[in-house]
Amino acid sequence: MAEPLTRRSLARLVGAAAGVSLLETPRLSARARAPEAGPSGPIRLNANENPYGPCRPALDALAGCGGVASRYPGSVIDETKAALARLHGVGADQIVLGCGSSDVLRMADSAFLAPGMRIVAAEPTFEAVLGYAKVTRAEAVKVPLTPDFRHDLPAMAKACDGSTGLVYVCNPNNPTGTIVSGPELEAFVAKVPPSCVILMDEAYHHLVEDPSYRSALDVARGRDNVVVARTFSKIYGMAGMRLGYGVATAANAAAMERCASWDNTSQAALRMGIASLADAEVVPRQRRLLNDTRAWLYAELDRDRRRYIPSQANFVMLDVGRDVGPLGEEFRARGILVGRKFPSMPNWLRVSIGTPEQMAAFMTALRGIVPARAAA
Ligand SMILES: Cc1ncc(COP(=O)(O)O)c(C=O)c1O
Repeated sequence: MAEPLTRRSLARLVGAAAGVSLLETPRLSARARAPEAGPSGPIRLNANENPYGPCRPALDALAGCGGVASRYPGSVIDETKAALARLHGVGADQIVLGCGSSDVLRMADSAFLAPGMRIVAAEPTFEAVLGYAKVTRAEAVKVPLTPDFRHDLPAMAKACDGSTGLVYVCNPNNPTGTIVSGPELEAFVAKVPPSCVILMDEAYHHLVEDPSYRSALDVARGRDNVVVARTFSKIYGMAGMRLGYGVATAANAAAMERCASWDNTSQAALRMGIASLADAEVVPRQRRLLNDTRAWLYAELDRDRRRYIPSQANFVMLDVGRDVGPLGEEFRARGILVGRKFPSMPNWLRVSIGTPEQMAAFMTALRGIVPARAAA
C-alpha cells in the first residue's frame, strides 16, 4: 500500500508553515468566465460539456430537492457511495466523493504530494492536477505525447522514481481524445514503483469505442497504488451540479477524504447522481447521440481534407495550420465558444461535440474562418 501518510501529512504541514498562500491557488478555469448559454447565448463548444444535460429521472430528483435545500447532505452521501460501490463491485469505504472530479484530483494531489516530491504527467493533458500540484509545491515532470498524440507510458514509467508521489494518466486524454490500451496500461501499472500512486482520470470513459481500451478499474483491480477518478459531468450531463468520485483502496480513499472539505457535495447533486446511476438508458443514449455527431464531424472534416486526431471522447482536435490563439475571438464573434490554445500544440483547435445543429454551425464558422485549403 502506497500510504506513507505520516511523512506526507508532515511535509504538508511544513509546506503550510512555509507560507503557501491562498493566492497560489491555481486559476484553472478560464471557462468559468465564459458567458452562460441561454436560448440566445453562444454555442458552448469550449468545455466538453454535454449539450443534452441530465436524464429525466435526474431532473425529477432535482425538482424534488427544494425541501432539502436547507439541509446538509447527511446520509445521502452514504447512499451515493453505496450506489457507486455496487456499480464498481468495491466497498463503500473505497469511494471518495468530490465537488466534480477536479476536486478528487485536488484531493489526490494533497494526499500524495508534498514539497520536494514529483508528479509525472503527459504534455499536453488536463491541467487541473498539475495546477493543484503547485499548491503542494511538488515538481511537475512533463512527458511529451508520442508522435501519434498518445501517452508515452514507457517513458512515463521511467520518469517515476522514489520521489514521485503521483503519476497522472488521463484516459482518454484531454485535449487529444486519445487512449492507452488495456495491455499498455497493464504493462505500465506493473512498472511503476508501488510507492507512487497512479491517478487514472477516466472522465470520458463512457464515450470510448476502441475495443482495446479498458478501464483501470478492471486492469488494476487489486493494485494498491491505483486511484481512478470519474465524473457525472460528461456522459451524465451534470457539469453544473459538480459531482465526481474516486475509487481507491480503503486506505487511499481515507487519505484523500482527509483532504476533502466537509460536505463537499450537495444533496441535489447526490440525488441526481443516484437517479442517473439507476437509469439504464442514459449512458447508451448519450453515448450514441454524441458519438454519432462525432462521426458526422469526421465526415465533414474529411470532406474538407482537414487533419484531425481521431478521438474517443466528446471533443476533437483539428489542425488549423496556424496559431489557434486568435481564432477564439473569431469564433466568439460568430456566436461559438471553442477550446483554448494548448501551448505545446499551438495549431490545434479543440472543439467539443455539441448537438448536430451546433456542429453544423461550427463547420460553417470554421469554413469561414479557416477555409479548407488554408488548413493543414
Ligand atoms: C480529463 C478531465 N478530468 C476531469 C475534468 C473535471 O471535470 P469535473 O470537475 O466537472 O468532474 C475534466 C473537465 O473537463 C476533464 O476534461
